[in-house]
Amino acid sequence: MKGFSLTEKIEAIEAMFHRRVLTPYYRMRFSVVGKRFLVTGRIRVRGKISIGDDVILTQGSALLAWKGGVIKIGNNVFLNWTAVSSTVSVEIGNDVVISAGAVILDHDGYGLDGNPAIERPVKIGNHVWIGERAVILKGVTLGDNSVVGAASVVTHDVEPNTIVAGNPARKIRNTTGYTTCNGLGEVQ
Ligand SMILES: CC(C)(COP(=O)(O)OP(=O)(O)OC[C@H]1O[C@@H](n2cnc3c(N)ncnc32)[C@H](O)[C@@H]1OP(=O)(O)O)[C@@H](O)C(=O)NCCC(=O)NCCS
Repeated sequence: MKGFSLTEKIEAIEAMFHRRVLTPYYRMRFSVVGKRFLVTGRIRVRGKISIGDDVILTQGSALLAWKGGVIKIGNNVFLNWTAVSSTVSVEIGNDVVISAGAVILDHDGYGLDGNPAIERPVKIGNHVWIGERAVILKGVTLGDNSVVGAASVVTHDVEPNTIVAGNPARKIRNTTGYTTCNGLGEVQ
């Protein structure tokens, strides 16, 4: 590694550790995992989870399928420090980017007025981008090519080709093409 700075050497060692140690370890924790899977730090995993090809999970991500819950992740999906908690079903499509700190829940966790907690499946379509720290609540479907703004709280379905933002999330405008990622390569 001659000619490389100390920082570059440390980054290279970290990357090797992620590929050769962490990723093979976490591979064993999922019921189905596709090709070119990568985990870049410690994550939390529990229950019935299937993962497609070209999926990256960064440090701090949590995929928690509790009793009765199922999490299904498609191909070419990037989950950056994202929490997904399921007691029924969370389905994430293909070509999806979920930015840092986002949370997806298909249940309330606690029941109100003496009733059991409400649970409704969540579906994230294809070519969807969810901004940092957004929260997607029970029963929501995000249509294909939709975008959720940073720190938004999504309580209702989002139509395909639509950008929503705010709390509660409301439509800002329509999308006119796929979301792309400057500098990190085209991710969608
Ligand atoms: C949703 C988003 C993509 C929209 O970008 P845009 O098309 O440039 O939208 P604008 O900045 O023109 O905003 C349009 C309107 O929506 C509002 N808005 C935009 N993003 C918002 C958000 N996250 N929450 C609440 N309102 C928002 C703006 O205030 C503006 O309202 P106004 O017309 O009343 O002034 C962008 O604001 C955003 O949230 N990006 C996510 C950033 C992120 O998480 N990146 C992850 C890095 S990996």
